[in-house]
Amino acid sequence: MPSLLKGVERRVRTGFSVCAWRLLGRRRYFQAEAFLKRPDGSKGEGDLALKKVRLYEDGFVTLSSNRYAQAAGIALAAFRRDFEEAIRIYEAPGPSGGRIVRIDDQKRCWSWIADSGVIRLLYEDRGHPLYEGIFGKGHSLSQARGGAATLQDLYARYPFVQHLVEDPDLVSMARYANGGDSSPIAIQIERKVHSEKPDYSFLHFDTIRSTLKAYLYLTDVEEGCGPLAISKGSHHWKRHPLMLEEIMARRKTRFSPEEIRRYGISPPVPIHGKAGSLFCFTSNAIHSATDVAPGRERWSVHLYYYSLRRYSSDWS
Ligand SMILES: [Fe+2]
Repeated sequence: MPSLLKGVERRVRTGFSVCAWRLLGRRRYFQAEAFLKRPDGSKGEGDLALKKVRLYEDGFVTLSSNRYAQAAGIALAAFRRDFEEAIRIYEAPGPSGGRIVRIDDQKRCWSWIADSGVIRLLYEDRGHPLYEGIFGKGHSLSQARGGAATLQDLYARYPFVQHLVEDPDLVSMARYANGGDSSPIAIQIERKVHSEKPDYSFLHFDTIRSTLKAYLYLTDVEEGCGPLAISKGSHHWKRHPLMLEEIMARRKTRFSPEEIRRYGISPPVPIHGKAGSLFCFTSNAIHSATDVAPGRERWSVHLYYYSLRRYSSDWS
């Protein structure tokens, strides 16, 4: 009986928020200043200006396919050494499933998400002006568990990552697509292997706030190597009224293949790239991880640029 009541209450609450969205919310959303705006084509930027247009139109763009080819190989060798213990611990036979978080003796935060075949090493910029607003006081995954590793620690250990963060094209792209802020709040190094658990046909977006991510592939990523898959143009939420209503009024973040068809957004396309390929995407676009074939692994570095502003683009 209580669960029946809860179901009724949930339906009433959803019905109310759908009405509120249709009567007021929708107009407000469309009238508010958009976060992601069509770039103005700055003079002297050449190829980079075109890449900003691609990011704006598609929601993702490859910034460089070869600039980091050599550096990625060197960085991968160092990361492999650093991950040795984590891989040994996490791949030892034992109970599997769920997420295990561990802080090491350098106060670094490791997490293993067994269902996704993923091991992550996380560093954060605790001094970033938006840090508390994004994570809440002391409640980022790392901080809550006693982790204290900062981006400065990461740069001291791996100067290559600082070099990457300071890439002029990436800085300019982040400024364009992250409200003028080109400083990542968090950086993760990730190793991903095969897992049969997740249903990769479901797609999602990350947050209702504006979020930009940059990925550097450290291994060749093709079919069967876990490429990120993104629905082209799906970050223009205003173009897809049904999806927008489900996001805003029903608080949906995860979508089935059937819903994807109903919204009329494009099927996801995998982002392939050689080792050293650097691309960025708005994670307000609808996207999904994909599986890694048995016996293979995908390594990548992820840079997270967050904003406190509610996401929208000006393409209606
Ligand atoms: Fe995501």
